[in-house]
Amino acid sequence: MDAVLEARGITKLFPGTVALDAVDLVLARGEVHALLGENGAGKSTLIKCLTGAYARDGGTVLLDGRPVAPRSTADAQALGIGTVYQEVNLLANLTVAENLMLGREPRRLGLTNRRSACREAARMLADYDLDIDVTRPLDAYSVAVQQIVAIARAVSLSDKVLILDEPTASLDAAEVERLFGIVRRLRDRGLAIVFISHFLDQVYAISDRLTVLRNGRNVGGGPVTEVDRLALINMMLGHDLAQAESGHRTRAPGNGPPAAQFHDFGRRGRVEPFDLTVRKGEIVGLAGLLGSGRTEMAEVIFGIDGHDSGTAEVSGTARRLDSPRAAIRAGMGFCPEDRKTDGIVADLGVRENMMLALQARRGWTRPVARREQDRMVADYIRRLDVRTPHVEKPVGELSGGNQQKVILARWLLMNPGFLILDEPTRGIDVGAHAEIIRVIEELCDRGMSLLVISSELDELATYSDRVIVMRDRRQVAELAGAEVSTGAIVSAIAAAPQQRTAP
Ligand SMILES: Nc1ncnc2c1ncn2[C@@H]1O[C@H](COP(=O)(O)OP(=O)(O)OP(=O)(O)O)[C@@H](O)[C@H]1O
Ligand SMILES: [Mg+2]
Repeated sequence: MDAVLEARGITKLFPGTVALDAVDLVLARGEVHALLGENGAGKSTLIKCLTGAYARDGGTVLLDGRPVAPRSTADAQALGIGTVYQEVNLLANLTVAENLMLGREPRRLGLTNRRSACREAARMLADYDLDIDVTRPLDAYSVAVQQIVAIARAVSLSDKVLILDEPTASLDAAEVERLFGIVRRLRDRGLAIVFISHFLDQVYAISDRLTVLRNGRNVGGGPVTEVDRLALINMMLGHDLAQAESGHRTRAPGNGPPAAQFHDFGRRGRVEPFDLTVRKGEIVGLAGLLGSGRTEMAEVIFGIDGHDSGTAEVSGTARRLDSPRAAIRAGMGFCPEDRKTDGIVADLGVRENMMLALQARRGWTRPVARREQDRMVADYIRRLDVRTPHVEKPVGELSGGNQQKVILARWLLMNPGFLILDEPTRGIDVGAHAEIIRVIEELCDRGMSLLVISSELDELATYSDRVIVMRDRRQVAELAGAEVSTGAIVSAIAAAPQQRTAP
């Protein structure tokens, strides 16, 4: 095999944790190599050791046969190892061209030559079939486009290894296809590409070989054609998923009194006015492509983006939901999609992060007794299988998926009457998915009402009593009871937009 990168015996210790225990990873030229494992298995840590973001505590890395020890990501990039993280690590308010040229602007007489920088940037993007205005700020474009810009930048700086850490987490199906087209082309040019993802379908669609980690150790790998899905899941979990899922049952549909009712509710430019009723004990799924207005609808309901039309009733009482505080007071909760910006307080511990919303609702002058806190926190650590050595561990030091579980626990333990979950299983590994769905169903059986946004249509179809489909910021279909199926949701999403009739 023509190895471009050979990492042997990589070890990384954190206080109280062996994050990596003598891990090997060998990348061949011109391959897509999937790096897999449960939340906290050590994937991101391994990447950070390879890219110089962390100093390793043991092991060797050979790049083209020569030992390397990058001391920073810039260092790694110069050697030929580029990385694109899930949260695009570029500067959102700089222009696309500035982002691409950052740190190596063409200079003339000591001044940045804007015109030639823009020309060069446009040329770089043409390679990726991306024809956008490079003088506009990066955040004027979708996450998918930003990601391609990030890849273009990484590849232009590093031409040996490209690492993609959960790059598809917030892309829709068409965007994933586009990204994969680019990945295949780069592979054919001889790059070794590391692909980290929890979406197994995608792993099988794009990868040539795979490496599986569990608890910071290598537990298997090989050509994807030799590792079937069941074997892969067994490697990742160390036990049978079929066994773990055997307790699954279908719920009785919620047909209690309305828990939350919205009439003609909307906000211009964010979401078209809609009517929505969620009954006590009911799970309503919200489906649609990225950008269809799902998150916007949730944010308007929760008062993050105050509504400018319509009325709301929660538990039979008319409410003005003009701020999150008002929504929380009305007995609502909202677990957002973007945990990095909307939820995690990285340097607070697991216990404090979990208690945050509940404590805020009670008011800070009435602290929840410590023993009560410990009981609630321990309960949710167990139920959601949060992997943390102790409850005071700063959440920023947990793996991405475990951070997600902490935020979820924060809202679940408030026990709100009406809870909105935006992509509750994103970034969560295959074993914990089942756990989270079981917790969701259990809560509804106890009378909580849920509005769940998810791109995992199979899951949505499994637990939803009703599914609302959105497109272009409006509700376009509603499926109930026996009509709810993955196929029906897909058809509704894909159906041709209806002709708008004049009012
Ligand atoms: N900065 C840090 N300080 C202390 N411990 C850390 C730090 N970063 C990671 N860890 C620990 O190292 C282990 C591996 O975490 P890592 O982030 O590599 O997991 P992962 O495989 O990327 O998981 P996920 O799928 O959830 O992203 C975890 O137990 C985590 O708590
Ligand atoms: Mg990770």
